[in-house]
Amino acid sequence: MNIGIIGSGNMGSGLGRIWAKKGHQVIFSYSRSKDKLENLARAVPNARAGTPAEAVASSEIILISVRWADIKDALKAAGPMEGKIVIDCTNPLKEDLSGLAIGHTTSAAEEIARMVPGARVVKAFNTVFAEVYHSNSRLYGSRRPTMFYCGDDSGAKSVVSKLISDVGFEPMDSGPLKSARYLEPLAMLMIQLGYAQGMGTNIAMSLIRR
Ligand SMILES: NC(=O)c1ccc[n+]([C@@H]2O[C@H](COP(=O)([O-])OP(=O)(O)OC[C@H]3O[C@@H](n4cnc5c(N)ncnc54)[C@H](OP(=O)(O)O)[C@@H]3O)[C@@H](O)[C@H]2O)c1
Repeated sequence: MNIGIIGSGNMGSGLGRIWAKKGHQVIFSYSRSKDKLENLARAVPNARAGTPAEAVASSEIILISVRWADIKDALKAAGPMEGKIVIDCTNPLKEDLSGLAIGHTTSAAEEIARMVPGARVVKAFNTVFAEVYHSNSRLYGSRRPTMFYCGDDSGAKSVVSKLISDVGFEPMDSGPLKSARYLEPLAMLMIQLGYAQGMGTNIAMSLIRR
């Protein structure tokens, strides 16, 4: 598939690299450094660098991987995304990282969906630290971590579920896009565990059932 990355920092570079290695065509975009985008693309098979508008025009799937404070600027640079599958991995963190800036009655995913009318938005990848995407493997022992995802478009969710498997996680359908109101606080729990509780960023969740 053709995947456009809007925001080629920790998350965008990690996920883009994995998908490109899996055979997807990836366009890295949105960095303040053109050299950074070009060096990244050169180091990865099936990848190239471009502008956000080029990334959107050439791709049926778009990953939004920018900080919450930059979301409006990034979406403006990307332009309309009608009909595209838009994966939102953001967390709407406060500037001082002390908590979430929004929640309970909305979520970053729902706000992004409002900003990109007609796009098929799916929330995913926000509950795992970027370090895990930059590791050689997503396996913990013999176990694949769970990746929760949610959205209102079943076709888009099915495509994203396959992309989650490509990354090496067990996809877990968590319902409508509104469930992002639960997935974004879950990321905050991971930040608490990783930093305040000292577990570090090479951690992931696994859902068990019987
Ligand atoms: N990091 C994690 O562990 C993690 C885990 C889960 C979810 N998330 C969420 O994922 C999102 C991305 O996080 P991240 O850690 O990947 O952030 P990041 O490393 O800061 O990447 C953001 C990207 O946006 C680009 N950017 C910012 N302002 C720009 C501007 N004015 N013009 C052009 N490009 C600009 C940055 O450019 P430069 O290349 O010039 O810096 C960078 O490539 C956030 O919402 C975060 O909450 C992060």
